[in-house]
Amino acid sequence: MSTTDGRTPRGLGDIITTARPFDEYVAMFGLTEADLLAGPILDCPGGAGDFGEVVRAMGGTVIGVDPVYATPPEEFLPVARRDTHTGNRYVIENPHLYVLGFFDDTDDHLARRLAGLERFAAGFAGPGPFHVPARLPDLPFPDGHVRLALSAHLMFTYPDHLDRDDHLACLRELLRVASEEVRVFPLLDTTLQRVPYFDDLLATLAADGVRAEVRGVPYEWQRGADRMLVLRRA
Ligand SMILES: C[S@@+](CC[C@H](N)C(=O)[O-])C[C@H]1O[C@@H](n2cnc3c(N)ncnc32)[C@H](O)[C@@H]1O
Repeated sequence: MSTTDGRTPRGLGDIITTARPFDEYVAMFGLTEADLLAGPILDCPGGAGDFGEVVRAMGGTVIGVDPVYATPPEEFLPVARRDTHTGNRYVIENPHLYVLGFFDDTDDHLARRLAGLERFAAGFAGPGPFHVPARLPDLPFPDGHVRLALSAHLMFTYPDHLDRDDHLACLRELLRVASEEVRVFPLLDTTLQRVPYFDDLLATLAADGVRAEVRGVPYEWQRGADRMLVLRRA
């Protein structure tokens, strides 16, 4: 395992494809029913979670974007199942990094993530209007295409894979495609560190005319990771 410059990434290591289920998304982004139904939502990276499936069943619109959606389901889904076990093993081996509450224990963590993955699998037939294979910071959408953009467990989670300029480019791209708001969670990496350039990123975005708020959410799984970043154009 190494980053593009040859270093071994800290913590969990390589970027894995996880499957946080709908109720976990609702909690970690502090979402209300009104948030879910007020207009199109971008979920980038969508991974193998069932957030989009559930919101679409409620009558809302979620467009999931992830480069893995280019991979045929019969290849991608086994990798997502393997990655879900990899994430669970990391939790078991690093109990000091996690707090119980949202999950009862590590078995509950694995069971709920796998259940979300299977709900995703039932609705995923490859690329389509709700499963778009693309990667930040280049999204194939016009300006303001969605009302709300959600981004979970990519930025700030994997700072050995995305540097300061990558983070800035990704946040600017999410702001471009979201007419109202961008929410990013978590703000800590898999060893509970915050990137040293976090305040500098917000200052740079402020100069672009973006208002940033670090807002508490009713969710904590990684110890101390109970806040999201909310961005809006001023
Ligand atoms: C840890 S998963 C997060 C999935 C989901 N948001 C969740 O919280 O369960 C990270 C995902 O990011 C995707 N990814 C990696 N690089 C990306 C990029 N540049 N733009 C968008 N997605 C990317 C990976 O394919 C992987 O599925």
